[in-house]
Amino acid sequence: MNPTPPNPAQSSSPTNKAPSLPIFFSRYQARIDEALRAELLGRESDIYDIHRYYMGWQEIDGSDSNSTGGKRMRPTLAMLAADAVGGDLERAIPIAVALEYVHNFSLIHDDLEDMDLVRHHRPTVWAVWGESTAIVSGNAMLKIADAAARKLRLAGVDDSVALEAEAELTTHYLKMMEGQYLDISFETEESVTVEQYLDMIERKTGALIEASIYLGSLVAPRLGPDRRKATALKAIGHDLGRIFQIRDDVLGVWGGEETGKPVGADIKRKKKALPAVHALSTSTGATARRLQQIFRTEGDLEEEDVHVVLEVMENLGTHDYCQAMAERRWVVCKQMIESLELSGCAATEFTELGEFLLVRES
Ligand code: IPE
Ligand code: IPE
Ligand code: MG
Ligand code: MG
Repeated sequence: MNPTPPNPAQSSSPTNKAPSLPIFFSRYQARIDEALRAELLGRESDIYDIHRYYMGWQEIDGSDSNSTGGKRMRPTLAMLAADAVGGDLERAIPIAVALEYVHNFSLIHDDLEDMDLVRHHRPTVWAVWGESTAIVSGNAMLKIADAAARKLRLAGVDDSVALEAEAELTTHYLKMMEGQYLDISFETEESVTVEQYLDMIERKTGALIEASIYLGSLVAPRLGPDRRKATALKAIGHDLGRIFQIRDDVLGVWGGEETGKPVGADIKRKKKALPAVHALSTSTGATARRLQQIFRTEGDLEEEDVHVVLEVMENLGTHDYCQAMAERRWVVCKQMIESLELSGCAATEFTELGEFLLVRES
């Protein structure tokens, strides 16, 4: 068997130290955490203990946990967007909570769909409680999200804006599901173009990131939405979503322990993530035929085939191709951020976010 190829993502950082989350994440963290926990308070069926486990607050046996769960990026973006339009953060809380629960619902189901046994360094719901429980607890979590979104009026948001935000949330999570459907169907497609890939990730990941920034900016202003700004922020969210997922695909192949997930799983499962799309579409001759044959294998790939795929990617410069695609999009996105008149440090902070998304390790 060939030795594991060098990890370009890691070797690009001289200190090998993972970049930390932008500071503004910590500004909202405590309030978001409190509001997320409040949404499950008083809900006593065991199904909610599964939710508490997945959110990182409990262990499997119900005892308290020190696990961090996820980055809470979507609620953080909703709050940042609320700040960016000079809005009232408390008005954005219900939608921030809803977004994080939609996200975690999607992960509970995604872990099952991708047959991933570990996330956030812990066993996934289906790995612990089985497939049926993952389906039903995921569904229940989506309803928790809807219930949270219905509290916008209690936070002072006008009826019409609240209704609009709820409808937009639904539209965006449906888009996310369309993307998940495409992602799954691509597993058995022989060839997927970059255009098809981009359309798929815009839905499965982009939609919710776009919704986070858009909805935060929509509901927070006391005097009603600033439509021009909200639409511009939505476009920024769209691009950040694309950058986020391309980096996620890079980490799926060349990431380290920090991802909290087994690395190489995307290749093993023959996922048409960007590295595979690139390798399949740019390899030629015998290499292309070998690759196609490997991707036609029934079931998961053996270690040896994973190594062949990694070697082909190494020779084709796949890692740098993927990073360059994210970086090109960032150039456009950064210009958009600079052209907007955002409140306070929002422009600087959105820029910090974009730069972080390009290099994140988890
Ligand atoms: C992971 O998203 C799932 C994708 C949409 C690619 P995050 O990286 O934001 O998930 P957390 O931080 O673990 O919640
Ligand atoms: C997850 O995409 C997207 C959603 C959950 C909607 P991936 O399957 O590529 O993300 P990870 O790598 O498991 O986090
Ligand atoms: Mg997955
Ligand atoms: Mg997936």
